Amino acid sequence: MKPAELSLQEVSLEFPTSNRPLAVISGLTLDVAKDEFVSVVGLSGCGKSTLLHLVAGFLQPTTGHISYRGAAVTGVSSARVMVFQEDSVFPWMTVLENAAYGPRARGVAEPEADRIAGKYIDLVGLREFAEEYPKNLSGGMRKRVDLARAYAAEPGVLLMDEPFGALDAYTRERMQVDLLELWQAEQKTVLFVTHDLAEALLMSDRVIVLSRRPARVHTVITVPFSRPRNRGLRKTPEFLKQQSLLEEILHSFEVADACAHTS
Ligand SMILES: Nc1ncnc2c1ncn2[C@@H]1O[C@H](COP(=O)(O)OP(=O)(O)OP(=O)(O)O)[C@@H](O)[C@H]1O
Ligand SMILES: [Mg+2]
Repeated sequence: MKPAELSLQEVSLEFPTSNRPLAVISGLTLDVAKDEFVSVVGLSGCGKSTLLHLVAGFLQPTTGHISYRGAAVTGVSSARVMVFQEDSVFPWMTVLENAAYGPRARGVAEPEADRIAGKYIDLVGLREFAEEYPKNLSGGMRKRVDLARAYAAEPGVLLMDEPFGALDAYTRERMQVDLLELWQAEQKTVLFVTHDLAEALLMSDRVIVLSRRPARVHTVITVPFSRPRNRGLRKTPEFLKQQSLLEEILHSFEVADACAHTS
């Protein structure tokens, strides 16, 4: 395995609450290699978004250590970009201006920023819409602008928190293929949170199953499918087997929860 690009060592996080501290992450250790696509799954409320916020530098661990390229993560950085469930395109900017935002913000001159933005707009299939404003685009198209903007910012790590969670099932599958193709064209280190186990398997090199809160790494699945991948993979027996394995793990947490509530 390549050396870790992103390393979390025994990371714990407690939120102060009015009664007592709420332990959300506890002793979580995870290494992510350069250009590795890693999905994170787990029950609702187990701490997935909190984990991304720690890696983004929005939060600091209570104990433990997070490093990126060997340096401690102590705050936000343009090297680690978040993509959220709701698209975060600027409505007052055209598609091209949205995608050029990252390069412009880091001081790249306009023609070069536009060239970088244009490259990713092409890759997500929005060339004809480069001069449109977001209000004239569908939800899926806005999500593509979001992806182009995130890629054009040229971060070292993309942190994606249920990026397709707000889309209808059909658009969501289209977006999965778009992101697969984008990633295939230009590989990146990605930490991708999702509730959709098939999505996690389709996209990733590894799937990390978090335990119930406080989250730690419960199971790591190395996804056995070669790349490039396409949506046809979802129907293969081996894919369905991996999916049901993941379902069983998550189901076992729910059963344990139900037992805890009735005992
Ligand atoms: N700022 C905060 N202050 C106090 N508690 C918080 C805060 N943010 C999150 N929590 C709590 O931490 C726990 C984990 O939240 P988190 O949003 O990380 O879960 P999640 O795994 O992303 O859930 P979901 O799958 O529903 O998005 C929850 O119990 C939540 O209430
Ligand atoms: Mg969340």
